[in-house]
Amino acid sequence: MSLFATKSVEYIMAESEAGEHKLKRTLGPGSLVALGIGAIIGSGLFSLTGVAAALHAGPAIVISMIVAAIGCAFAGLCYSEFSCMIPVAGSAYTYAYTTLGEWLAWIIGWDLVLEYAVGASTVSISWSGYVVSLLHDFGIDLPVQLLAGPFEKRMLPDGRVIQGIVNLPAVFIICMISLLLILGIKESARTNAIIVVIKLAVVVVFIAVGWRFIHAENYTPFIPENQGAFGQFGISGIMMGAGVIFFAYIGFDAVSTAAQEARNPQKDMPIGIIGSLVVCTILYVVFSYILTGMVHYTKLNTSAPVAVAIDQTPYEWLKVLIKFGIICGFTSVMLVMLLGQSRVFFSMSRDGLVPKIFSDIHPKFRTPWRSNLLFMLFVSPFSAFLPLSVVGEMTSIGTLFAFVIVCAGVWVMRRAHPDTPRPFRTPLVPLVPILGIVWNFAMMYSLGLSNWLRLIVWLVIGQVIYFTYSRHRSHLALKQGAPVAQRR
Ligand code: ALA
Repeated sequence: MSLFATKSVEYIMAESEAGEHKLKRTLGPGSLVALGIGAIIGSGLFSLTGVAAALHAGPAIVISMIVAAIGCAFAGLCYSEFSCMIPVAGSAYTYAYTTLGEWLAWIIGWDLVLEYAVGASTVSISWSGYVVSLLHDFGIDLPVQLLAGPFEKRMLPDGRVIQGIVNLPAVFIICMISLLLILGIKESARTNAIIVVIKLAVVVVFIAVGWRFIHAENYTPFIPENQGAFGQFGISGIMMGAGVIFFAYIGFDAVSTAAQEARNPQKDMPIGIIGSLVVCTILYVVFSYILTGMVHYTKLNTSAPVAVAIDQTPYEWLKVLIKFGIICGFTSVMLVMLLGQSRVFFSMSRDGLVPKIFSDIHPKFRTPWRSNLLFMLFVSPFSAFLPLSVVGEMTSIGTLFAFVIVCAGVWVMRRAHPDTPRPFRTPLVPLVPILGIVWNFAMMYSLGLSNWLRLIVWLVIGQVIYFTYSRHRSHLALKQGAPVAQRR
């Protein structure tokens, strides 16, 4: 069978309605927007905003936020067209299967592990850091060696620097969320909605309180002069700041992985994707404007810039509240990411590209529980042993790669199947997809050689699996009469 054989939209829809693997359609537009916000606001906003302002953009981080959002908007419009046209679980993977063929679909499905599974691991490491800090505020200090991986060091109150061994809190939260997902999508969506309300409240309280403590002189100069190297302030600093802060926007596309559980996907998927992106962009811009107004950007190079800002106010008690909200925020990001991961492998398994175990539905909970358990085992070592920066950048490059392929897919599909019904149409095709491809590729470029090498190694492992296993077991290949010898 050709590597570029595609599945028709009708074929995919019929297949997804087949009883054996059917998921429950329970999510309305509100739940979908909440799912998006739950996946988006997390360690990017609460940790990276300060770093990007301090090292790259200064107060102009506000512009970086808008620049990154525009890049995501191109991809979001393309995701919306696909998610209404093909409203089944699987997201970018399924879209690639209908447009670019099985081989590229495999590549994207394999790549999405970087976005969802490794992304969840990234946030679990941030979660661990904030929990440890909150416990410290309450006078509880756990053994440092069990709170960080072997590539990270922690300073004790007496000034000694200790090497970590294993990040146990990060593993703990991955296990808890996996178990929650096994209990069911409806219950998980409800939990997510509660968490989203708490974290939105924290962001709004920060904005409302911080507004009164802005020092106008902190905004001068608004765009600090470039210091001679690319990315160190000036216009290139705004661009690099946008690349760093991109992580804060990852997640809106996770809404598309729940398309098969949406009650009315044609209408509600664009609302979920674009709605959550718009809400988050507005909050991010206001949040970063206030943050850099309260504290001079040179003092924001910290993983907890919000705590530094609260120090400028007389409300010491707010710090604990805000840390608590941030911890909740991280929890819902991991929830949506692990949910998205199991859904992508659910689709790949239904297609025969990965073993059936990934699409086995629990008879009572109706969730792909074995898949949730396997990903819990896969993600835990990343959380336990790798440093935050490595897993974070792997997540970003993997996600950007997926965005590039989805934008290309919309364009290809318009040319190959112009008459397929599209309840939502990406405007200005091919301009918007082309801008999406160029923009996201530029951000991939800015992530540097070591991340490209990691991406390539991951994709090569994927190729070995595809050519030794998946290609011979693909249901599409078997239907189209691949030689018996290949059907092992
Ligand atoms: N956007 C998510 C975060 O910032 C991944 O944590």
